[in-house]
Amino acid sequence: MIWKQSGMASALAPMRDVTTRAFCDMLFYCGEPDLYVTEFLRVHPNSSIDRTIEEMLTGRLSKRPIFVQLLGREPAEFARVAKLLSRYDIQGIDLNFGCPMARIHRKGVGGALLEEPEAIDRILTEMEQSLALPLSAKIRIGLKGSLKFEQIIGVLAKHNLSHITVHARTAHGLYRERVNFEYVKRAKAMLPCRVFANGDINSAWQACEVAKQTHCDGVMIGRAAVRNPFIFRQIRELQETGTCFVPKFRDAYLYVLQLMDGAEKNAPNEKKQVAFLKKYLNFIGQCVDRNGEFLHCARRARNRAELIAAIDSHIKGRENEDFYGIPYENIIARPNCE
Ligand SMILES: Cc1cc2nc3c(=O)[nH]c(=O)nc-3n(C[C@H](O)[C@H](O)[C@H](O)COP(=O)(O)O)c2cc1C
Repeated sequence: MIWKQSGMASALAPMRDVTTRAFCDMLFYCGEPDLYVTEFLRVHPNSSIDRTIEEMLTGRLSKRPIFVQLLGREPAEFARVAKLLSRYDIQGIDLNFGCPMARIHRKGVGGALLEEPEAIDRILTEMEQSLALPLSAKIRIGLKGSLKFEQIIGVLAKHNLSHITVHARTAHGLYRERVNFEYVKRAKAMLPCRVFANGDINSAWQACEVAKQTHCDGVMIGRAAVRNPFIFRQIRELQETGTCFVPKFRDAYLYVLQLMDGAEKNAPNEKKQVAFLKKYLNFIGQCVDRNGEFLHCARRARNRAELIAAIDSHIKGRENEDFYGIPYENIIARPNCE
């Protein structure tokens, strides 16, 4: 069994440099998703398993299933790297057909493949023939528009996939375009495999609503899990009991301290530790105060002491306030994510 058979499943979205082992180990204590997907591993003629992926696969605390995501173009290269990965304790391979970054498109991989359903077909055919592990795919609804959406789903339907994830906006829409879950509903109606909905799901309540609307089998959550690492626990509790744990600022403070601890263990010097922590505070800061003052201070902190001062003055003193982890409007996480 790859994940639970009844109810809506949850998955942690792959996020490059964010869904590190340190972060996933923290979710182990806060409440885990049913499924993990690693950040993408770039597949090219000389690629091997890089250190971040290796760390994820060998030392994580979780016993929950993990799929490793691959990004590339040539079927034989996918198959070669997948074979290397099959020596590890993984439950499947996820194929990235949605990455929106321009430098990735120029190489004809990620979201660019949404313009070439036949190339997707070739990759899936090769992977099915050469690999015994389950396969999944993560797509957006198209590159610039959604004209080829049904053709792409038609190709995916021909193959024996464990699940697909639909990030319900175009690749060109980056993170700004409105998410349209209607496409998740359409994919679910057309596909024999399980379908995960993804994109701007900001709370456990919204996750349940999206599942109801689209009839999807699961939700994949990225940035909201960084803002609120208890979200997977909340989703589980809401489904089981109709209510759920709501963290306080005290919990958010402890979470930030744990991230800081992770930074100290994973980055070799103070400069890198501060950079590591800022990646997470970038998202957490969207839901600390309505005016974005914490985010402003955290971004400008030049060293550990300044970062701690920002955390102490905006998070530490508010212990008993509820912390919903839902971003305030117009507070933008930068640089690469909205
Ligand atoms: C910092 C960052 C890195 C990401 N890296 C990847 C990646 O490696 N592979 C991938 O398929 N998607 C990646 N994504 C996209 C997410 O998996 C997800 O589809 C997107 O953030 C929308 O979900 P959300 O609104 O729940 O965050 C990344 C997103 C962010 C913010």
